[in-house]
Amino acid sequence: MCPDENSTTSGPRVAALIAAGSTGRHPLDSSGPASPGAAKPQEAAEANGQRDPGREEEFLDRLAGFAQQHQADKWSGTLGTFLETIVRSNPQRATRTSHQYMWDMLRAQSQEDDKGVLHCTLLSTELFGVDDSIARVVDYFKAAAAGSEVGRRLLLLLGPPSGGKSTLVILLKRGLEAYSCTDAGALYAVAGCPVHESPLHLVPQALRASFRETYGADISGELCPSCRLRVDKELGGDYMRMPVERIFVSEAGRVGIGTYAPHDPTTADLADLVGSVDLSKVAEFGDEGDPRAWSWSGSVYAASRGALEMIEILKVKREFLYLLLTLTQEKNVKVSRFPLIHVDETIVAHTNLAEFRKFLQEPENEALLDRMVVIQVPYTLDYRAEAKIYRKLISTAEPAFREVHLDPHVLNIAAVFAILTRLHVGEDKGENLSKRLRLQAGEDVDGVNRADAERLRERLPDEGLAGVSPRFVINALSAAITKSNTKSLTTMDVLLALKDAIESDARIDAKEKTRWTDFLVLARKDFYNRWVKEDVHKALFVAFEQEAQELLDKYVDEVEAALDNRKLRDPITNEDRDPDERMLRAVEEKIHISDSGKHSFRQEVVRKAMGAYKREQKFTLASHAPLRDAIEQYLFEQRRDVLRLVSSAARPEEETQRKISVVAKRLVDDYGYDSHSAREALNYVTTLLAQE
Ligand SMILES: Nc1ncnc2c1ncn2[C@@H]1O[C@H](COP(=O)(O)OP(=O)(O)OP(=O)(O)O)[C@@H](O)[C@H]1O
Ligand SMILES: [Mg+2]
Ligand SMILES: [Zn+2]
Repeated sequence: MCPDENSTTSGPRVAALIAAGSTGRHPLDSSGPASPGAAKPQEAAEANGQRDPGREEEFLDRLAGFAQQHQADKWSGTLGTFLETIVRSNPQRATRTSHQYMWDMLRAQSQEDDKGVLHCTLLSTELFGVDDSIARVVDYFKAAAAGSEVGRRLLLLLGPPSGGKSTLVILLKRGLEAYSCTDAGALYAVAGCPVHESPLHLVPQALRASFRETYGADISGELCPSCRLRVDKELGGDYMRMPVERIFVSEAGRVGIGTYAPHDPTTADLADLVGSVDLSKVAEFGDEGDPRAWSWSGSVYAASRGALEMIEILKVKREFLYLLLTLTQEKNVKVSRFPLIHVDETIVAHTNLAEFRKFLQEPENEALLDRMVVIQVPYTLDYRAEAKIYRKLISTAEPAFREVHLDPHVLNIAAVFAILTRLHVGEDKGENLSKRLRLQAGEDVDGVNRADAERLRERLPDEGLAGVSPRFVINALSAAITKSNTKSLTTMDVLLALKDAIESDARIDAKEKTRWTDFLVLARKDFYNRWVKEDVHKALFVAFEQEAQELLDKYVDEVEAALDNRKLRDPITNEDRDPDERMLRAVEEKIHISDSGKHSFRQEVVRKAMGAYKREQKFTLASHAPLRDAIEQYLFEQRRDVLRLVSSAARPEEETQRKISVVAKRLVDDYGYDSHSAREALNYVTTLLAQE
């Protein structure tokens, strides 16, 4: 399968990389661009257009089922029927605040472990390596739902670019949508209310104490101006007849979710957030203060009962901030020429570090900061989690990307590099940095005891706040793929692509560029070399068991002949020959059997073999531990020599070729390589071995 040209095009490149690395020169400098010749026609990839009819049918079924379910779950009535049925059956549920609703939603999508610790599956199945931040967010909602003071403060997620802040909020929003479709998450609102307010707002203040006595639950919040007017004008004050319906949270439908992103701060209008007077209607209703002349289009109204996402919150004007802080604290909005409007919603805001530092520099912001709960969402320091992020991003990327084969270490090596740029570099250089990185991923490292490991695993305050982002890595990978038009990307290709990306990025200063390029070398030396050698070693032992048994049988035959001073008949030539003393010694030397000691060792082996024979048992490797060690080592070195031949011989002989193909096939079948990357890996390891 593997065309031979590959080894010739990539051999020198790989060799150059290694040589440069070991002489301390810049390792990636001398290399050319990633070899484009490597691309092989992919087995006519599962044509894009082809659909699996079974799957399509299943999807359509589910779609129809979903719609039906949704239909069935609908509910509508009046305040009267709402009280008699929904509230009576579960008053606590019917009186939930937005924070309590959010907390119930998170709890419904969480799992408790054996120690009683709650793990939020909603967030943790899509966000990797940020468990601490997730736990803090969950704690915030737990405390806020319990009525603690934190619920009156705005939640601000703070972190480096593309560190998952938006994703976290998106997951919360999707979680709310899904939860509102469940029985436990059923939400009810006054039908037609612009802020889909709770029907219980219709219960007059004077009767709320008695509501509490009756149902054991509190009503908070006031009727909105629009509904108040309707009760008067349409129902002649009979609020019991006010229509009520079940609502379903939907961002697209502007129910229970609002999103605000600042565009140009100079033109940003408060109306985007809280609506404004609709002048065309003022003429009709004759008064600016008439709620019917009001446009309720602001995202604050859309978000009522659920969550308001504030993107880049520190970029908005100060007056916006005050409005939002009042909203969280007092649960109302006050806009000029309009009465106070009660709105209950959870504000989740996010911002990046640069913006936050700027904000901190202005002393008058201190009071504002006091009214926020800031949760950091740093980059992960666990390279395996980071690699998972890449895998996720690739799986949702364009098809061209998904069709490319990645060797098994591509994503891990990119992740190792990314984490290295995020770690604090003090006295820790090279080896220590690599050690810390492995400890962060929960690996055991030789020579590091438990206590030290705990200490080294601790995240330093500035770690994970700067360095390479997942997006940077993914961009570098896509660039490598489009540029070389390859269908197979190896770890070496990726290291080169990252180097290119670093060099061509104008935002990175020269010193940083050198430091980061050095990290690529470190990643290769301390991680890739170890991983790829391990793969090749394992693959070398194809059918090892059987081969070892054959060697054992041969060893015993030769030893018997040698002890009896007898000749052996060559099965092919039919000629008699002496026992193969060279082979016997080669095996024995592996376990340091001396020339003078060989006789007694051989006698002992034969005795054991005879014993097994008499008991009608097979004499196997398990029957003799020292001999097993000897044979394993013997075989291993033999294989290694085969590998060495790959690089030394310009045209390896057929037998060597065959043996190599077996190893390459094993890499493909069992270790996640394709034929191109397997060949590259073998070349690479060969070059490494040549240096040992
Ligand atoms: N810890 C993580 N787990 C899973 N995916 C992540 C993680 N961090 C980032 N990502 C992915 O990286 C991409 C960028 O993340 P996202 O947009 O959420 O970052 P952000 O913090 O909002 O960035 P910005 O400050 O640039 O707005 C997303 O596709 C996201 O899924
Ligand atoms: Mg974002
Ligand atoms: Zn209303």
